Amino acid sequence: MAIARSGIAAMILACLAAAGTAQAQDKPDDPLAVGRQMLIDDNPGELWIERGKKLFYEKRGPKKASLEHCDFGLGPGKLEGASARLPRYFSDTDTVQDLESRLLTCMVQLQGFNREDVVKRAISRPASDGSDVEALALYITSRSNGMRMNVSLSHPKEYDAYKAGEYLFYRRSGQTDFACVQCHGEANKRIRLQDLIHMTDKKGVQGVVSTWPAYRGAHFVVRTMQWRLYDCFWQMRLPELKYASDTSIALIAYLHYQGNGAVISVPGFKR
Ligand code: HEC
Repeated sequence: MAIARSGIAAMILACLAAAGTAQAQDKPDDPLAVGRQMLIDDNPGELWIERGKKLFYEKRGPKKASLEHCDFGLGPGKLEGASARLPRYFSDTDTVQDLESRLLTCMVQLQGFNREDVVKRAISRPASDGSDVEALALYITSRSNGMRMNVSLSHPKEYDAYKAGEYLFYRRSGQTDFACVQCHGEANKRIRLQDLIHMTDKKGVQGVVSTWPAYRGAHFVVRTMQWRLYDCFWQMRLPELKYASDTSIALIAYLHYQGNGAVISVPGFKR
């Protein structure tokens, strides 16, 4: 069933890829809009939510523990609305963490998994069954569906992460001398056939931060924000972005704060 669904989705996607997915509602006369809406209504990523839920409550790892005592900021096991406020400062680790780095902390501390092993598998191969982290990140975020993004900068370390993210967003770096803002700072830009999302626009960035983790049609798996940034770093030919690194969290803090007010709706559906 899962394979059949994603197979059909892939075929439709192949036809739609050229037009991107973001502006379906904006162009009423767009001939592809109907097909795109069908994909959103029948998002194969939905299947990952159940899997993430199962993983969350299952006793796993060397310590044979579930993630029910993991605190994503609102108290142990309290998931409703938690991801709407991430990244945020956590006193036990004395750092600002996004959803994925926090999940990593819990998988290591509560379940006894080896950090490097989890990181190595966090981003799955295309057309695979996906990773545990991808499924868990989607399940946890889905518990905030319908709620508004509400990231705070009240702790000095939250503010610092935000400012670092802002700096990185505008800074040109690497051999191609690219900055995020060059691809994501204007409306109606494209690279080859892909629409480049306008993220210095409030609506644009809100559409981004409320839709990850997302089902990525071209990969047949659910992808997370950490993967998305990793991929943009690769496109910029920058050194590999380390999973759950301070750099990645700073960029996510910047984007998520910019997107405050957006209503969370995951899994998103991406090309
Ligand atoms: C060379 C151009 C380029 C640069 C520079 C670039 N990106 Fe991207 N970005 C893309 C493309 C292409 C996509 C995906 C388009 C697609 O797959 O349809 C994308 C997608 C994204 C998305 C997901 C948007 C959505 O669909 O929800 C995020 C978030 C993002 N980029 C962040 C960044 C950040 C942060 C930086 C700087 C570190 C950056 N990008 C730099 C080209 C770029």
